[in-house]
Amino acid sequence: MTSNNQPVRFVLDGAIVEASPAQQGSTVLDYLREHLGRSGTKEGCAEGDCGACVVLVGELSGDGASVNYLPVNSCLQLLPTLDGKSLKTVESLQRANGKLHPVQEAMAASHGTQCGFCTPGIVMTLTGLMQTVSKPSRSEVIDALSGNLCRCTGYKPIIDAALQASAAAPDQIKLDDEADRALLLQLRASREPAALFTAPGQDFFAPTTLPALADYLLAHPQATLLAGSTEIGLQVNKQFAWPQGLVYLGNVSELRQVGDQGRFWRIGAQVSLNEVLTLVTEAYPDFAEVLRRFGSPPIRSTATLAGNIANGSPIGDSMPCLLALGATLELRRGEVTRTLDLEHFYTGQKKNALQGGEFIVAVNLPKPAAGEVFRGHKVSKRFDQDISATCCAMRYRLQDGRFTQVRLAYNGLAPSPCRAPKLEAVINGRTAEEVSAAELDQAVAQSFTARDGLRASWTYRALLARNLVLQFVEEATSLEAVK
Ligand SMILES: Cc1cc2nc3c(=O)[nH]c(=O)nc-3n(C[C@H](O)[C@H](O)[C@H](O)COP(=O)(O)OP(=O)(O)OC[C@H]3O[C@@H](n4cnc5c(N)ncnc54)[C@H](O)[C@@H]3O)c2cc1C
Ligand code: FES
Ligand code: FES
Repeated sequence: MTSNNQPVRFVLDGAIVEASPAQQGSTVLDYLREHLGRSGTKEGCAEGDCGACVVLVGELSGDGASVNYLPVNSCLQLLPTLDGKSLKTVESLQRANGKLHPVQEAMAASHGTQCGFCTPGIVMTLTGLMQTVSKPSRSEVIDALSGNLCRCTGYKPIIDAALQASAAAPDQIKLDDEADRALLLQLRASREPAALFTAPGQDFFAPTTLPALADYLLAHPQATLLAGSTEIGLQVNKQFAWPQGLVYLGNVSELRQVGDQGRFWRIGAQVSLNEVLTLVTEAYPDFAEVLRRFGSPPIRSTATLAGNIANGSPIGDSMPCLLALGATLELRRGEVTRTLDLEHFYTGQKKNALQGGEFIVAVNLPKPAAGEVFRGHKVSKRFDQDISATCCAMRYRLQDGRFTQVRLAYNGLAPSPCRAPKLEAVINGRTAEEVSAAELDQAVAQSFTARDGLRASWTYRALLARNLVLQFVEEATSLEAVK
């Protein structure tokens, strides 16, 4: 049953905050700064790049015994997504006795702050990291900070501060959230199966079950799905356009599961990219590396694989890996489900095969099979937090030194990420020595229309398309296939 005109309710430092309908159509950042007077959280870029706005969003664990925190870019998150959750901002960290959190103390002691604009975001990122990794290594700290820009300090004092803070007693590092937990249990008990939050002209529907979601979309085929909000949030901030009729997937528990289906993993449409990264780390290290360079940890805490696929950007990073691995999509419209190969999903630039009211339920990712090798690499100007010039992925087998069953895919070369059958044909049946750069160049020229782009010239992209494949081919004999 749908409950109309619900107020958004969330927990903030031991109290339930109830947003009035007039305020519900705002981002979490705007709500914090403009309605709650919590101006510690800063707005830098308003597009997920600088990290000045990072806060921690808490969710009750399944058994209700603890609260799990994720760092998020509050500039991109819409207020109704907070319903039933808790929020920690930089103002939450000071203890009742006035003592600062160890991360704050260490930032001051090791001169990790100068103008201070980036500091609240950095403090929240590091505090969030230490809720799950109590003694992070230097490289874990650097990874965690890849979404926080500081133009003053040069990062060394910030990294030193993180390592210094992690030496504090665990009970000092752990967020004080016992009162929050009790309130979160209360909110969970009173949650509606399908809530409709309305701000003037801005409906926001949040179902909790798959059938309720499917029925709603069938009746409202023009509605816009909202998953991790890292694309939609940009639309709201940069085009000042709050999509009419948003439908939030985050409360549908079935969409948040990863299922082991034997030969493949069924990754629900609301599973975050950070969870996918963990899933593929052992099975597909190159895919994990592409995901580790996808946005930043707070972007990946909410962004989803399904959102990346549905958004359909020509330079979307997960698709080359998924296409090379032969991923399929589980789609649903009303009560009807179908499975579609990802390679048949795109019908043009940012166009796809979804029918009105149809949505992605899950992405089916094949597990590594004996004898297969998977390679993938993203090329961008910066290592972290940058957009691809191109990303290339290849799966193959070697039989008596010859490549077979090659699947090769790219982003950045065509209106949508795609396989490259002409390049596959150059490699299939050959040994590494028999694959020539000239034939690959010819296949690139026959497969794609030359187009210079903002991120790279066509000449550069075409060279990358050939050289990445040559690298995979030349390294093939030194790599072990899956046993
Ligand atoms: C700072 C920043 C860095 C980024 N870095 C990268 C990067 O390195 N590589 C890259 O590829 N992208 C990057 N992105 C883009 C973005 O993060 C990804 O496209 C992300 O995967 C989108 O997922 P989401 O869950 O946030 O989607 P949302 O913003 O929630 O939705 C995106 C689109 O998908 C639709 N949609 C969502 N779920 C479904 C579903 N289940 N069925 C049908 N349609 C659906 C929505 O209606 C919307 O049109 C970046 C974005 C930002 C802001
Ligand atoms: S304001 Fe820059 S990431 Fe949010
Ligand atoms: S201290 Fe000035 S931006 Fe970091």
